[in-house]
Amino acid sequence: MPTRVLILNGPNLGRLGSREPEIYGSATLTDVATACAKLGAELGLTVDLRQTDDEAELIAWVHEAIDGRLPIVLNPAAFTHYSYALRDALAMRTAPLVEVHLSNPATRETFRHTSVVAGVADGTVAGFGTQSYLLALRAVAHLLGRT
Ligand code: DQA
Repeated sequence: MPTRVLILNGPNLGRLGSREPEIYGSATLTDVATACAKLGAELGLTVDLRQTDDEAELIAWVHEAIDGRLPIVLNPAAFTHYSYALRDALAMRTAPLVEVHLSNPATRETFRHTSVVAGVADGTVAGFGTQSYLLALRAVAHLLGRT
């Protein structure tokens, strides 16, 4: 029975493909979703990828994952750096949580060097573009004892 994984994406990630391609690459979020669904099928994971620009909606999805005991792969985007509300929600998690970034925030502006989410995640994958999501899915499969 495949396990459902929520792949949650925060603000401006719906613009992937045209958003600062020199930083975030040319793949769209649909391309990311397609690649994740393909790998998920190999790993026995059903992927449910969503994006929102709204903090409240993102937190509601985290609550849904908590109630359903669903693993989360999360690119919090700019919320990474300042959303204590998102962190507090994630602290209640009931299943694996892997933080993901397309870019490597540690090599960028100082304000990106802090993640308020990292401390409540199992781990973080950053800097590999679309591959960051695929590596995170593999980490979820591993944390679930699938690999
Ligand atoms: C990002 C990095 C964040 O600093 C930024 O605000 C984003 C995208 C990434 O995937 O590299 O929106 O999370």
